[in-house]
Amino acid sequence: MFGKKKQVSTIDKDQLELIENAQKRIRQKKRLYIHFVIFLIGAVFLIIANTVLGIGKDFTIVGINWFVYAILAWLFLFVYHFISVFITNKFMGKAWEKQQLEKLVNQQQQRIDKLKESFLKEERKIAQSQAFNETLTESKTEEKKSTNELTIIVAAGEDNAIGKDNNLIWHLSNDLKRFKKLTSGHHIIMGRKTFESFPKPLPNRIHIVITRQLDYKVPSGVIVVNNLEDAIDAAKTDTQPFIIGGGEIYKLSMHLADKLEITRVHSTFEGADTHFPEIDSSKWKEVNRTTHDADEKHNYAYSFITYKRR
Ligand SMILES: NC(=O)c1ccc[n+]([C@@H]2O[C@H](COP(=O)([O-])OP(=O)(O)OC[C@H]3O[C@@H](n4cnc5c(N)ncnc54)[C@H](OP(=O)(O)O)[C@@H]3O)[C@@H](O)[C@H]2O)c1
Repeated sequence: MFGKKKQVSTIDKDQLELIENAQKRIRQKKRLYIHFVIFLIGAVFLIIANTVLGIGKDFTIVGINWFVYAILAWLFLFVYHFISVFITNKFMGKAWEKQQLEKLVNQQQQRIDKLKESFLKEERKIAQSQAFNETLTESKTEEKKSTNELTIIVAAGEDNAIGKDNNLIWHLSNDLKRFKKLTSGHHIIMGRKTFESFPKPLPNRIHIVITRQLDYKVPSGVIVVNNLEDAIDAAKTDTQPFIIGGGEIYKLSMHLADKLEITRVHSTFEGADTHFPEIDSSKWKEVNRTTHDADEKHNYAYSFITYKRR
């Protein structure tokens, strides 16, 4: 309130630069003008020194007095000074630098714009292909879901034992009844060894046998394929095809199945030579379980457990 108010500069950076540049030009021109005056005085002095005062009167080069050469050399220096002030400075001065800089910045900006444009195009393409892939995956999943529910059916001990010497290890009549009830009217997919463990094909079911043999002979009505994918394809009209074993085929199909129908036999079987894979609880959710004690028809207690893929 009582102190002297500080003056705030109203000149911006560009204006200041222009002023500084103009001041510099004035100084350059002044110096050139002074050079010109000195040159004129000097030239007159050299002429007088030679012709009037007789300094170096006898010194000539190709018949011409030395002062002519001295004046010419000075004139050359003056012309050089003149060129640097009016020509070089015009082309290479601040304004020229600024112009070049602007040109460069414009070129860089154009390149950045082009890069941005091609980047956006790429991004659009990636987004389109991602959307396409998602739609494809969704439609594939829906197609699989709507056509069938691939189900693995097995009876396994607590230690996952399922067989020995190409045969079952136990006889559980309720398990056989359940197997018949669930699989009747459906396709049953099996390995060649499991197929050979049956005395004859099971009634009321379409058998699909997987073998690497190209000339494997089977009774009429039995389908033979050389890999699991062809087996699933052969059962594609079925709403619930079953994988019925054995160990090799269970292992191959675990990651493709939608459902597991397990008969868990509550005992361990040390002599078994074939096993069912571990059921990963992070992938499978138990949805149903009924437990039965051992009785006169069943040597072991057992549970019927249904899992669905999470
Ligand atoms: N407890 C149960 O619920 C249950 C159910 C079923 C079976 N089992 C038992 O399991 C045992 C049989 O199982 P296993 O593992 O030994 O045999 P398997 O799985 O029944 O059959 C194996 C055969 O399948 C064919 N095969 C396997 N992988 C193949 C592939 N990638 N491509 C083409 N063909 C392929 C081969 O036939 P080729 O050699 O002809 O090429 C192979 O020898 C028996 O003890 C049976 O009683 C138990």
